[in-house]
Amino acid sequence: MHSPILKVQNLHTWFETPTGTARAVDGVNFELYQGETLAIVGESGSGKSITALSLMQLVPEPAGYIEKGSIFYKNRDLLDLTWEEMRALRGKDIAMIFQEPMTSLNPVLTVEKQIVEAMQVHGTATGAEARKRAVDMLNKVGIRSPQQVVRQFPHELSGGMRQRVMIAIALSNNPQILLADEPTTALDVTVQAQILDLLASLQKELGMSMLLITHDLGIVARVAQRCCVMYAGQIVEEAPTSELLKNPQHPYTRGLLASLPSRARRGQELYTLEGVVPPPTRWPKGCRFALRCPNRMDICKNVLPGETALSPQRRVSCHLYNSDSAEAAVPLENPS
Ligand SMILES: Nc1ncnc2c1ncn2[C@@H]1O[C@H](COP(=O)(O)OP(=O)(O)O)[C@@H](O)[C@H]1O
Ligand SMILES: [Mg+2]
Repeated sequence: MHSPILKVQNLHTWFETPTGTARAVDGVNFELYQGETLAIVGESGSGKSITALSLMQLVPEPAGYIEKGSIFYKNRDLLDLTWEEMRALRGKDIAMIFQEPMTSLNPVLTVEKQIVEAMQVHGTATGAEARKRAVDMLNKVGIRSPQQVVRQFPHELSGGMRQRVMIAIALSNNPQILLADEPTTALDVTVQAQILDLLASLQKELGMSMLLITHDLGIVARVAQRCCVMYAGQIVEEAPTSELLKNPQHPYTRGLLASLPSRARRGQELYTLEGVVPPPTRWPKGCRFALRCPNRMDICKNVLPGETALSPQRRVSCHLYNSDSAEAAVPLENPS
């Protein structure tokens, strides 16, 4: 593959809290390639949103800070940019959409004003040209009466329409990268599918790269070509989506997959992952998943597993695959 448009290396984003340092993102590595959709999937509290906010340098300060790491965008480390340079890039080169449009839409401005402002800030378009582009953008995101919607306020729109407007704003400057953080979680299932299909088709049409953050492997299957599984501030498995779904290797990924409701619909027994992600102020000493892991070995409680490359496109961090682990077992078999 060609060189990545975004390369995240050893990213650590921590928070100082009354109960200690919360190591929310704790050594994350991944690469995003031109024109692909990469998913980051994991349960609530695994550090997905803080990873995305770190890329935008929007981590809530002063409690939160990037402790160390690099974020290479087109071979420049974003962490070396000045505040102004980062502001010029944010919303232009890299745009972000969130779960809840009402938190990022301005309730007192019309839809037109908000799209036009997004373009004005970066000098992409102004005046009549910007207003025309606002209507074009609404068309692009599948809004059928854009001339009417530009005059409306966010509260006059349905949840699905608001999400489309937020996508229109995010794409108005033709970004290279779209960060989509649980973009459909707040929507009902039918609208969810429409918005996901819209994002997938826009990503292809515009040739942009998309980082899709979700807790739902079903969504990953629908839109992402590759997938990183995140647990307790780290990536524990990475694979092309089709391989991940066919042949998950990390016991956590297996658990996530086995607990997908679609399996129950196919008559398979529905599995529940017991327990929750531990608090980031107190990550366990060894493997962070050990306490919940059905394949736990003695070493897992004491030693954090390193990364094992299973193939050029696959990696997993689990003692089951680590040849240095004294008790290394044979890799898990395919689930039937
Ligand atoms: N402002 C904050 N102060 C302290 N801890 C935080 C703050 N924001 C997030 N965290 C912690 O960081 C961890 C990861 O959060 P987040 O990235 O939002 O998880 P996810 O998006 O995967 O659900 C959580 O345990 C959360 O409590
Ligand atoms: Mg989140």
